Amino acid sequence: MKILITGGAGFIGSHLADKLIGDGHHVTVIDDLSTGRYSNIAHLEENSRFRLIIDTVLNAALMEELIRETDRVYHMASAVGVRLIMEQPVKTIETIFHGTDTVLKFCSRYRKRVLIPSTSEVYGKGISVPFHEDDDLLTGATDKHRWAYACAKTLDEFLALAHWKETQLPVVVTRLFNTVGPRQTGQYGMVVPRFVQAALKNEVIEVHGDGTQSRCFGHVADVVEGLTRLLETPACFGQVVNLGNSEEVSINDLAERAIRLTRSSSSIKYVPYDEVYGEGFEDMQRRVPSLEKARSLVGYKPTRTLDDIINDVAADFSGDIASSSKQAGS
Ligand SMILES: NC(=O)c1ccc[n+]([C@@H]2O[C@H](COP(=O)([O-])OP(=O)(O)OC[C@H]3O[C@@H](n4cnc5c(N)ncnc54)[C@H](O)[C@@H]3O)[C@@H](O)[C@H]2O)c1
Repeated sequence: MKILITGGAGFIGSHLADKLIGDGHHVTVIDDLSTGRYSNIAHLEENSRFRLIIDTVLNAALMEELIRETDRVYHMASAVGVRLIMEQPVKTIETIFHGTDTVLKFCSRYRKRVLIPSTSEVYGKGISVPFHEDDDLLTGATDKHRWAYACAKTLDEFLALAHWKETQLPVVVTRLFNTVGPRQTGQYGMVVPRFVQAALKNEVIEVHGDGTQSRCFGHVADVVEGLTRLLETPACFGQVVNLGNSEEVSINDLAERAIRLTRSSSSIKYVPYDEVYGEGFEDMQRRVPSLEKARSLVGYKPTRTLDDIINDVAADFSGDIASSSKQAGS
């Protein structure tokens, strides 16, 4: 099949490209390299079934051409990461909403299967865990910019489901919980790569807040398997489905595990949210997915643990650190 991955030079998109090429498909990636990296897909460039286009999903004429010729669309392009969202709120909203609107419009016109990733952020300040797909969503006031990401993604969900309702567009919406693994960069505030990188360099690990907040981390390989199953299962069309891992860990415990597994001598320093993101930043204490719907629809069951994730991320960064010190020495 011909498959289009928007944002395919990003963290999840590049792993998806690897899997789909490995499964024998033809893959086109469109990416503007804003948070993605060429190095994520450089190894695919020689493959005759791979094509990279550096452009934006906001280029409607190009998107129409690409969608018309493809069989499937994975729309992974998005503004991502809490830091970016706090610093560039206009770009965040525009990229998320206009990008998804463009993709859905042409998928609807040419009747193409499409997967729209949403986020666990849409559950907002919900306190009753685990989060189920039909729970009420509780976000904050509009002057608190962190909620712009969740609300823009919520609007994407509404639009996708509206296309399903009005024209039976074969669209699947998936709410991704924290997804982690090799190639993810800590640059935009992602916690696992940030901690592991600091631990490997024996630098101080900065915990934002008091560290009692908890998260669940899914390995990108498990999540990518889930994404492809969702889009290949017609029972998922018009559905919203959580994906991730339900193993819960406090941020304190995560920092300690990163230190232990990398045999690091790093210490932990606590930094108030206001100092990192400005006054009035709101965070969620817990975020745990119910994976029941994903299990019953596509048999989704994550197979990799948090220790596997930390070890894989550490191995990835160790390679980078080794090659940069080699270059510096040469
Ligand atoms: N990683 C996670 O934990 C997580 C959690 C929830 C949801 N998601 C969602 O999964 C998707 C992929 O996220 P990721 O973690 O791989 O992030 P990422 O930043 O690595 O990937 C996003 C990609 O989109 C590209 N992009 C951004 N704007 C673009 C534009 N206008 N045109 C073309 N390309 C553009 C970026 O360059 C990047 O390569 C996003 O929709 C994100 O919201 C991720």
